Amino acid sequence: MTIVPEPAPRIDLPWPTDGFSFGGDYNPEQWDRTVWREDIALMREAGVTLVTLGVFSWGLLEVEDGVFDFNWLDEVIGLLSEAGIAIDLATPTAAPPIWLHQEHPEILPVAHDGHKYWQGGRLGWCASSATWRFYSTRIVRELAARYGNNPAVRMWHVSNELGGGNRWCYCDESAAHFRRWLAERYTTVSALNLAWGTAFWGHHYTSFDQVLPPRDSESAPNPALVLDFERFSSDALLAHYVAERDVIREYSPNVPVTTNFMVTQNPGVVDYATWAKHVDFSANDHYVIGDDSLPENELAFSADRMRGFNPSRPWLLLEHSTSAVNWQPRNFSKAPGELIRHSLSHIARGSDGAMFFQWRASTAGAEQFHSAMVPHVGTRSKIWHDVCELGAILGKIAEVAGSIVEPARVAILFDDTSGWAWASGQKPDNTLRISEAARHFHRALWARGIVADVVPPDADLSSYDLVIIAGLYLVDSATADRVYERAEQGATVVVTYLSGIVDETNRVLRGGYPGAFRDMLGVFGEEFFVLGDNQSASLDTGWKVTRWSEKIWAMGSDVFASYADGVLAGSPAITRRSVGAGEAWYLSAHLDGEGLEAFVDELLLRTEIVPKSPPVVGVEVVRRLGRLGSYAFALNHTDHAVSVALAGWDLLHDMHTGNQITIPPGGVAVIREDSEKVGDLIL
Ligand code: GLA
Repeated sequence: MTIVPEPAPRIDLPWPTDGFSFGGDYNPEQWDRTVWREDIALMREAGVTLVTLGVFSWGLLEVEDGVFDFNWLDEVIGLLSEAGIAIDLATPTAAPPIWLHQEHPEILPVAHDGHKYWQGGRLGWCASSATWRFYSTRIVRELAARYGNNPAVRMWHVSNELGGGNRWCYCDESAAHFRRWLAERYTTVSALNLAWGTAFWGHHYTSFDQVLPPRDSESAPNPALVLDFERFSSDALLAHYVAERDVIREYSPNVPVTTNFMVTQNPGVVDYATWAKHVDFSANDHYVIGDDSLPENELAFSADRMRGFNPSRPWLLLEHSTSAVNWQPRNFSKAPGELIRHSLSHIARGSDGAMFFQWRASTAGAEQFHSAMVPHVGTRSKIWHDVCELGAILGKIAEVAGSIVEPARVAILFDDTSGWAWASGQKPDNTLRISEAARHFHRALWARGIVADVVPPDADLSSYDLVIIAGLYLVDSATADRVYERAEQGATVVVTYLSGIVDETNRVLRGGYPGAFRDMLGVFGEEFFVLGDNQSASLDTGWKVTRWSEKIWAMGSDVFASYADGVLAGSPAITRRSVGAGEAWYLSAHLDGEGLEAFVDELLLRTEIVPKSPPVVGVEVVRRLGRLGSYAFALNHTDHAVSVALAGWDLLHDMHTGNQITIPPGGVAVIREDSEKVGDLIL
């Protein structure tokens, strides 16, 4: 049984709004009708163009098993439609009603240790449950049949943050589904035994029927089993998405369908690169992490990942916050300017809109202290003022919608599956989060004004001059071949420690690390040398190494830098090899911030990749290209005014900039640049 069909995105469907999409999750069911009228008036005041409706309203739409009440939703849709506000209609399957959990507790997910979750949360369902599939697609069919041709419904939003609560289910029904998935993947049980290396501990299977999910046991699980269970879980949820989507398409063939991802700097709860092929356009929920040392860079990294799924198409920021969230250990309010700057940072990097969770702050329920577009205090507030200002800004820059982000010369490879592989089983350093290695490079490039696409391993690499593979632990042979080919064609490829260590079955590639790239790099990695918190080493370039180092040999490559001290003193640390018209570098160590920055400078110098605008500390300049030319977004993340050399039409102030523009502390400029005739070439 194929659980996920071939991708079938419909990329030619119209964008849900004219111009940028602006609005948020609208939950009118939490309020009485007098508030609804006020909501609509305030939405118009703020310039809201799109609202996400009905995300958690199943229990109020299907009040008992098979008893539906759409009256209130009809009324709300009528009000929004009269006001000209487009609707992103959500299927309400992220929150099953209490009656369903009471009637069918078997749909609730089972945790790794065998305990079953209870009613009362969100996403309380197992993706493999046939009962769940019946009830969920029934409510979706009711909605799609009723509203599928309603002209106000301009977009469909399947469920909510799938996998964000029900990522894994270890119940018996999931176990049976997992076995079917494995039988399809491996065909024979001996192929499975080989792939999983079950000779270890003598855990070989004589039938698929013996396989269980990696349920709790007292010692470390088989990493290959864990990885396949991750893949299966992502596919099982994707199959659910596809089931809902296909019901919607029957009734609403010309309206785009998507779902909100949770793409961040970390490996995803599902394999988003695969999911991105099944949605009509990609959409993301992004919340800045208060404890991050540079939140605006984490935001940029996540946005660059979203664009990386398809750099020539817009995506949509479907949720972010106007100020503090409520689910981090400490929830920081946004500083003046951040609401607008964060929204425009996503837009600069390819989002064709800025949507929030949520329209009006709840007074009750689990999210009563989460910020919203209309805060508890109402409209006499900084938040409301900024929301209205953002709405006005999006109107002023409407001509930018539909443009694309200037094609990047740098690609950073990122793969959720590889992140899962590193997290499976025991590793040389079980505290190291190697997916952060990609972010470290991104951060150094970001500080230098270089925009990178963060792309999945199967992306088309042909347009990139610098390809960075940092901490990409699992690499299949097709990816390794394509990277090699790109180097031969002339790109500079940089591979770091802990990349290409295991193949797609999570088995270590023998004969010298990093097995997947060894030939291209001309390197033979002999042994890993983990460094403790109080240990470090240095290179003969003066750069400092922390956390990770390796004993490597240069086999046909040039040594660019060697370890200067410690147990590896005298051994190569960084190598370079000519490959066809390009070159391949290996970085065997974790360089601390300054060392990595110096290494990145070296790479940029050699590849002659320079920012179009000279970098100003704390200021991002990102360009989008449209029919009328190039649009420069300049985002001042500092607390002082900065001058940036940009000549063109200042869309926010409707005036020419001269050759310089001064951006106030925390402010933003959007400039249609002079003498840029690139648009027609690109679009
Ligand atoms: C997610 C969910 C929303 C809400 C926000 C809170 O993005 O999709 O429903 O819970 O988090 O930040």
